[in-house]
Amino acid sequence: MKVIVCKDYDAMSKKAYEYMKECITSKKNAVLGLATGSTPVGLYKEMVADYKAGNTDYKDIVSYNLDEYVGIDRNHPESYYSFMHKNLFDLVDIKDENTHLPCGTTQADADAYEAQLQNANIDLQILGIGRNGHIGFNEPGTSFDMGTHVVDLTESTIEANCRFFDNDPNLVPKQALSMGIADIMKSKEVLVLASGVEKADAVKGMIEGSVTEECPASALQNHPNVIVIVDEAAASKLSK
Ligand code: GLP
Repeated sequence: MKVIVCKDYDAMSKKAYEYMKECITSKKNAVLGLATGSTPVGLYKEMVADYKAGNTDYKDIVSYNLDEYVGIDRNHPESYYSFMHKNLFDLVDIKDENTHLPCGTTQADADAYEAQLQNANIDLQILGIGRNGHIGFNEPGTSFDMGTHVVDLTESTIEANCRFFDNDPNLVPKQALSMGIADIMKSKEVLVLASGVEKADAVKGMIEGSVTEECPASALQNHPNVIVIVDEAAASKLSK
């Protein structure tokens, strides 16, 4: 793992965009694995700004998203489908048919997404990290061997995400479809972003902890090409 510590969220986002830009300019039809949540919003802003400046295009770029809630319509403002359209897809020239998100409610729906991922060959996977070390929606205890599956969200994730649902945990979906760790490990390069002191324990577990299903992100220690970009607060519990 290569670890880069940046001063703050903006610096983290700009540094992440350096890797993203290298990927999308060196390969016009690059395949991106994309994440949602607050963390990658700054990266997506950098992507949009550089696209609007005429320096990049997404005509042949293909994307696969990590996860999606179960039980809310994709047009719900807090669905990850809506998030991606609002923060990136509607703001650049990516083709709708080249964007992929999991969708549905059952393991059969998860299997259908898994079938798409089999031929995806993701070049660069963007990841945030949950406070409990989750990546995608792979919660602690998830087998590293799993592909796309239906997830029961933990109380801690429901609580963390209720800020998007009027601060009412009852409004947060209780399940999601998520790429599995096995899917994430197949991507050629992984870029993990984390910002804020509330991520410091998860970042420490990912980088310095033992490789254990109790910290899903620790699986990345076994990936050959991981870059972790964190701000100083998220790095504050690292020993070096
Ligand atoms: C969410 C998402 C993850 C995300 C993580 C952190 O629930 N499923 O993909 O990386 O939790 O979210 P945030 O970036 O908002 O802190």
